[in-house]
Amino acid sequence: MILSIESSCDDSSIAITKIDTNELVYHKKISQELQHSVYGGVVPELAARLHVEALPKILEECKEYFPQLKAIAVTNAPGLSVTLMEGVTMAKALSLSLGIPLIAVNHLKGHIYSLFIESEAILPLTVLLVSGGHTQIIEVNSLSDMKIIASTMDDSFGESFDKVAKMLELGYPGGPIIQELSSKGDNEKFDFPVPLRQSPKIEFSYSGLKNAVRLEIEKQETLSERTKADICASFQKTAVEHIMQKLKKLFKQHAPKNFAIVGGASANTCLRGEIENLCEKYGTALMLSELKYCSDNAAMIGRVAVEQYKVSDFIDIDELDVQTRVKVF
Ligand code: KG4
Ligand code: ZN
Repeated sequence: MILSIESSCDDSSIAITKIDTNELVYHKKISQELQHSVYGGVVPELAARLHVEALPKILEECKEYFPQLKAIAVTNAPGLSVTLMEGVTMAKALSLSLGIPLIAVNHLKGHIYSLFIESEAILPLTVLLVSGGHTQIIEVNSLSDMKIIASTMDDSFGESFDKVAKMLELGYPGGPIIQELSSKGDNEKFDFPVPLRQSPKIEFSYSGLKNAVRLEIEKQETLSERTKADICASFQKTAVEHIMQKLKKLFKQHAPKNFAIVGGASANTCLRGEIENLCEKYGTALMLSELKYCSDNAAMIGRVAVEQYKVSDFIDIDELDVQTRVKVF
């Protein structure tokens, strides 16, 4: 079995995965959303302090599995340096005390393998990764052969939901709140510009849309619940439309055999619905991770670690460090 730790942002999570069968024998996650909600976003130092409390609490429940562990895996990139450090420090201590090797896992690969928890990977695959930190299209041939074919030039899809929610004083994380409020609003009420509409390139940008929403909010004399819902609905429609315009271009050039959406923001039902229709039109098989594995969790880190264990992809304790940004896999 492998014990995996995830602390790249605001979720403290530990999982234990069987190497032979991918079976998830233990998985727990403690979210900090409530504590960050008052600030309208994640406060790194607060997040780190909460990991210091939560991770040992979860680890306590895993002790019975210690004799069966063959490796310790941990997310070391990308993410917030102060929070990644908490997981990495715990992983090093466990590796030393149990005398077992360390596996460093890329968080984005974790999101991709969230599709294959307790199952075998189906590859090759084209993936849309939409999270708080990333908006990318990735061609996945294998765990060690992934190529980013499109990314955002500024804000990410999930981040734009968080920022709009903050402007409207709705709380954090913005994605689920905006999705919920959108269902009560009129998505035609405000005409926000779809980013990069005229550009032939397949790339993303969300800062212009965020600013358009900001200007509209500033124009309003009062912000009634109704207006907030209309802004959310109109914003969500435009944010999803931007992704769909670019995906349609991609499918037109070369429709993939297998397509998947992963990352915390892949829980967005509006985006899921549109992508389902697109895949159906092109006869592309669509893979989605279970909702509980869309947001950050250690189960997906453990699943990647199983693959790395099988090819002895270990890292020396002195070489394991955190990396906040990883541009290429
Ligand atoms: O993958 P994740 O848990 O953390 C990162 O690695 O960033 O993704 C969290 C992000 C947040 O920005 C959150 O607002 C967004 O995913 N999100 C959503 C939805 N649920 C979560 N965005 C849009 N619609 C949703 N339903
Ligand atoms: Zn993530």
